[in-house]
Amino acid sequence: MKLKISPSILSADFGKLNQEIQDVGGYADSLHIDVMDGHFVGNISYGSVVVKGIKTKLPMDCHLMIEEPVRYAKDFSKYVDRIFFHAELFRNKGELLKAIKKIRAMKVKVGLAVNPDKPVSLVLPVMKEIDAVLIMSVYAGFGGQKFIPEVLKKARLLREKGFAGDILIDGGINETTIKAAKKSGVNVFVAGSSIFGKKDRKKAIHELREALK
Ligand code: DX5
Ligand code: ZN
Repeated sequence: MKLKISPSILSADFGKLNQEIQDVGGYADSLHIDVMDGHFVGNISYGSVVVKGIKTKLPMDCHLMIEEPVRYAKDFSKYVDRIFFHAELFRNKGELLKAIKKIRAMKVKVGLAVNPDKPVSLVLPVMKEIDAVLIMSVYAGFGGQKFIPEVLKKARLLREKGFAGDILIDGGINETTIKAAKKSGVNVFVAGSSIFGKKDRKKAIHELREALK
C-alpha cells in the first residue's frame, strides 16, 4: 500500500495560502483541509470560500469537524476529492449509513473520523460503505498538540478486520511518531506543524518520508 504524506494547511500562513500550498505541491501526496465550526470543536477555522480559492493539483481531503456535516458537505464537495466527517455524531448505524449515502451522492469519496476517546467500533459496522478512516491522534480542534499513541490500536483492529482502504492518522505526526503509525497499519500521514511549522517544507516532507523507510 502506498504511504502518503498529507500536509494540513491549518498550520499554514493564510495571508499567503496559495504560496504555502505551492511550497508543498511537488512533494506532498494530498492536501488536508480542516473545517471547524466552533461547536463540535472549540475552534473556528474557515469555510468553503477559502477552499474554493485553493490552487493545487494535489487531491484534497476535507476533514469536517462540524456538528452538521451532511448540511454543509455540499459546499465543499465541489472542490475536494474526499470528505471526512466524525462517526461519533451519529446515534446508530442506520443514521450513519444515511449520512454516508447522502455525502456519497455529492460525488466525493467518503471517510469517517473518530476522536481519540471514541471507539473504532463506531466505524467497523459500516466499514464496507466507506473509502477511508481518519484516526485522530489528538483531540480535534487545534494543531500542534501531543500525539496520543494509544489510538494506534484502532488502525491495527481495522486492518485485522480486513479494512483495505486508506487509514489516515491526524495529529502530532513528526519523524518519531510516524514510525509507530506506519507499523500499526496507517498509510496516510497528516502533518500540520511538522511541515508548515518549518521553513523548508521540501526538507520537512523528505524527513517524514525518510522516517518511513
Ligand atoms: C486537528 C486537525 C489536524 C491538525 C494537525 O484538529 O484535524 O489536521 O492540523 O496538526 P498537527 O500536525 O500540528 O498536530
Ligand atoms: Zn484534520
